[in-house]
Amino acid sequence: MSGAATAHPAALGAAGGAGGARVATGELDLTHGVVLYLEGISVSFDGFKALDNLSLSIDAGELRCLIGPNGAGKTTMMDVITGKTRPDAGTAFFGQTIDLTRLSEAQIAQACIGRKFQKPTIFERHSVFENLELSMKADKRVRKTLFAKLSADEHQRIQDTLKLIHLEGESARTAGLLSHGQKQWLEIGMLLMQEPRLLLLDEPVAGMSDEETERTAELFLSLAGKHSLVVVEHDMAFVSKIARKVTVLHEGSVIAEGPMEQVQNDPRVIEVYLGR
Ligand SMILES: Nc1ncnc2c1ncn2[C@@H]1O[C@H](COP(=O)(O)OP(=O)(O)OP(=O)(O)O)[C@@H](O)[C@H]1O
Ligand SMILES: [Mg+2]
Repeated sequence: MSGAATAHPAALGAAGGAGGARVATGELDLTHGVVLYLEGISVSFDGFKALDNLSLSIDAGELRCLIGPNGAGKTTMMDVITGKTRPDAGTAFFGQTIDLTRLSEAQIAQACIGRKFQKPTIFERHSVFENLELSMKADKRVRKTLFAKLSADEHQRIQDTLKLIHLEGESARTAGLLSHGQKQWLEIGMLLMQEPRLLLLDEPVAGMSDEETERTAELFLSLAGKHSLVVVEHDMAFVSKIARKVTVLHEGSVIAEGPMEQVQNDPRVIEVYLGR
């Protein structure tokens, strides 16, 4: 382990308790090639186990698909990773050294875990370009006011992102006027402006047209490698298109994991999910 610029987990806990103190989340330590490591995570809601001893590990640069029936705990798992829900038991590490269970939701966002909810949250009255600009400047590592002029580099980054999310031609358009699929892409672009190391995407193609779904598959494939992605989806055609490794959740635990063909032919997976 390099240990260099990385804060000790205990230091993170102390900063977290100090209310508003700057959190030294430090460098993401990917020494062992693992970006996210969950072990034995359990979450109960009034005695009901939404997550039951869940263990999962995501490699840096991986594109992981997470599937499973309604209520399996997929969204709850994302809630745990992003600090929205505290686990009753278990450990959750971002890289080798960042203990997610000791950080607040805001600190986790700062540590570069980006999350996309099902409903796009964009600034409807602003242009597409401004949406990307605003999300870049919301990044506190860029210490500028919202009204500061963009540098040439920043301008270029926005252009690059527009291209990536297929909205080059819509740059000046009011975001509220975009199609549902385009809004989803814009939100993904907004997340990308903050340079996340891990992206969590919950049902990203729900409500998209076939063509939009196809383009989203291409987008995710192009992001893999540079970013680590966890994608939750019920659309199996979409999952088949992007899947490398697939994890199947059922009643809060992993019941299968592996390549799509293997998972698809797993009798237990067919019984609880795919066969229905
Ligand atoms: N805040 C909460 N309070 C009580 N129960 C909850 C809460 N959040 C989730 N649950 C329950 O936990 C279980 C897991 O829910 P979760 O939303 O994680 O499932 P999911 O796999 O995302 O399902 P879907 O595919 O329908 O989105 C469900 O039974 C749900 O009702
Ligand atoms: Mg869900």
